[in-house]
Amino acid sequence: MNYQWYPGHMTKAFRQMTEDMKLIDLVIELVDARIPVSSRNPDIDKLTKGKARIVLLNKADLADPKANEAWIRFFERTGTAAIGLDARSRDGFKKLDLLVRDASREKRERDKKRGILNRPVRTIVVGIPNVGKSTFINSFSKKAVAKTGNKPGVTKGKQWIRLSDTLELLDTPGILWPKFENNTIGENLAITGSINDDILDRAELAAALVRILSERYPDAVTARYGIKDTKDLTPAEVMEEIGRTKSLYTKGQEIDYNRTAGRLIDDFRSGRLGRISLEVPPEEQT
Ligand code: G4P
Repeated sequence: MNYQWYPGHMTKAFRQMTEDMKLIDLVIELVDARIPVSSRNPDIDKLTKGKARIVLLNKADLADPKANEAWIRFFERTGTAAIGLDARSRDGFKKLDLLVRDASREKRERDKKRGILNRPVRTIVVGIPNVGKSTFINSFSKKAVAKTGNKPGVTKGKQWIRLSDTLELLDTPGILWPKFENNTIGENLAITGSINDDILDRAELAAALVRILSERYPDAVTARYGIKDTKDLTPAEVMEEIGRTKSLYTKGQEIDYNRTAGRLIDDFRSGRLGRISLEVPPEEQT
């Protein structure tokens, strides 16, 4: 498969982010809970070197709860605190406040030693497109005390949202880009809707999704479409069964594979297939 991306855009984004980072104490990194590796920018360590960081497994409401727990353990093992979140609701925010406090403790202690008092922790939200950055900033800043003016060094027009006496959030998220290191990453990003799938072969994507479902969530397809056991079926046969039960035919009365693929992918993205994670931490794979 061929994935389209724009290097010019990346270079500009990288430069902008490097510039913004100079003013940041704590980085809030959003990843898609269903694909925490594929939705991550591998350069994040380099970009955020020396900064405190926490990971939010966003869209956790769509992901497998067991996988969410496994990913939280995974990130903790690598020394980064993480929580699962649905950015559209404020449910996890108490826990998040604690995490933010914890992660910025070192900075507060450093300030104290230097005699700097009451300088708020400055934070930025970063992540790839569509991961939920704007949604998160919106929900998280509902409790904002005030918007503060520009700070020197930040591109004009950017503002800080004062969330409390001790925390300020840059109102513009840092946009990272995914890295298509292999085909699976591209597939994962397309299946979850993180990249435009107009340019991709939908049937191929649906087949990749069916393979994952058959392997790890064999009941999801059965429950959603009323198909009997799919265990011995090839992905193409599963698609055929779905097309048949949903009466997705072409004018020539053949199964319309394109519409069937679209239906399956839509059902996955909206959570109608259940809570499904496409990636599990390496050491938890069976
Ligand atoms: P971005 O700034 O990182 O590009 O992402 P954005 O906030 O625009 O979110 C992208 C889509 O993901 C939006 O849906 C948003 O509602 C949805 N979303 C964000 N966080 C969550 C979450 O935790 N759980 C779920 N289920 N969805 C989430 P959309 O269809 O593009 O827009 P809309 O229909 O919600 O307006």
